[in-house]
Amino acid sequence: MAFLNQLEMGLGTWAWGKGIVWGFGRGYDEKDLRETFQASLRAGIRLVDTAEVYGDGDSETYLGRFLKEAPGDKTYVATKFAPLPYRCRTSDLLKALKASLARLGLPSVDLYQMHWPSPPRSIKAWMEPLAQAVKEGLAKEVGVSNFSRGQMLRAQEALAAHQVPLSSNQMQYSLVRRKQEFNGLLDECRKTGVRFIAYSPLGMGMLSGKYPPQHPPSGPRRLFYWGQLGRIQSLVEKLRELGSAHGGKTVNQVALNWVRCKGALPIPGAKNAAQAVENAGALGWRLEPAEVAQLDEASRLFRG
Ligand SMILES: NC(=O)c1ccc[n+]([C@@H]2O[C@H](COP(=O)([O-])OP(=O)(O)OC[C@H]3O[C@@H](n4cnc5c(N)ncnc54)[C@H](OP(=O)(O)O)[C@@H]3O)[C@@H](O)[C@H]2O)c1
Repeated sequence: MAFLNQLEMGLGTWAWGKGIVWGFGRGYDEKDLRETFQASLRAGIRLVDTAEVYGDGDSETYLGRFLKEAPGDKTYVATKFAPLPYRCRTSDLLKALKASLARLGLPSVDLYQMHWPSPPRSIKAWMEPLAQAVKEGLAKEVGVSNFSRGQMLRAQEALAAHQVPLSSNQMQYSLVRRKQEFNGLLDECRKTGVRFIAYSPLGMGMLSGKYPPQHPPSGPRRLFYWGQLGRIQSLVEKLRELGSAHGGKTVNQVALNWVRCKGALPIPGAKNAAQAVENAGALGWRLEPAEVAQLDEASRLFRG
């Protein structure tokens, strides 16, 4: 819990490696990822979020390679266990963690997260090996992801029985996905000291303003925001206006700053050094409460 509370932003690595969503190998490659990682460190970003399923292990492998090349720099590594249907025995969790550590080249990770809840196996049952990971020194802290408020509270209670705190819950949260603000989860995190980590804080790139309806992103990404690109453009205009008022901040920087103002820890994905550096420019300043309220209003259609 301690290290997450000191951090203001992280770097997401879902796009690092093969897979149909992001198009690795078309327009960016390993060299770009290495530069992204190095530029992030230089810009003061210390947390890197990955998962065993990103790039089918590639993301962890690349990160492990880059970590080895930067031995003096303290990086907090967060990865995730995927309770896939063919691998849903609780004993699979520690096995998966050891495989992640081998790809990362680390003796332990700073944060090990359960990627999503996996019924019918109970949350209580899953929290047992997660707590064991801390006890065995394979993870310094543990968290969950995509857990509703009730699921998160059950996870917290189950971990507490093993004297292990629940450090974080990683959820989709951005100006175009605000559900967690209205269903009580964000408030519950604040109340219980669980760090709310915001994934896809740039709406998978839609908030950058480079994807108007006539020019959607290629691949399946367009399906996630089907029919919404038109509405997103007026929000982008508001971001642009507020960025100008802050001495030329970009729309991405304003969008990430809004997430921070809500008390969440954004982990924007980046495919190259320029994106990473730009995103880090969301740090070191703050939107005024009245500006946050203007963005709340401009994004009211995305509350669900
Ligand atoms: N726990 C979960 O279930 C879960 C789910 C999803 C993601 N995550 C985590 O959260 C991280 C972030 O989410 P995300 O990658 O889905 O979405 P995101 O951070 O909202 O968007 C990332 C994408 O936006 C574009 N972009 C980023 N910075 C930019 C900039 N400065 N200028 C222009 N375009 C920019 C890039 O794609 P293009 O250049 O191609 O547009 C980039 O890949 C992931 O990498 C992953 O670590 C977790």
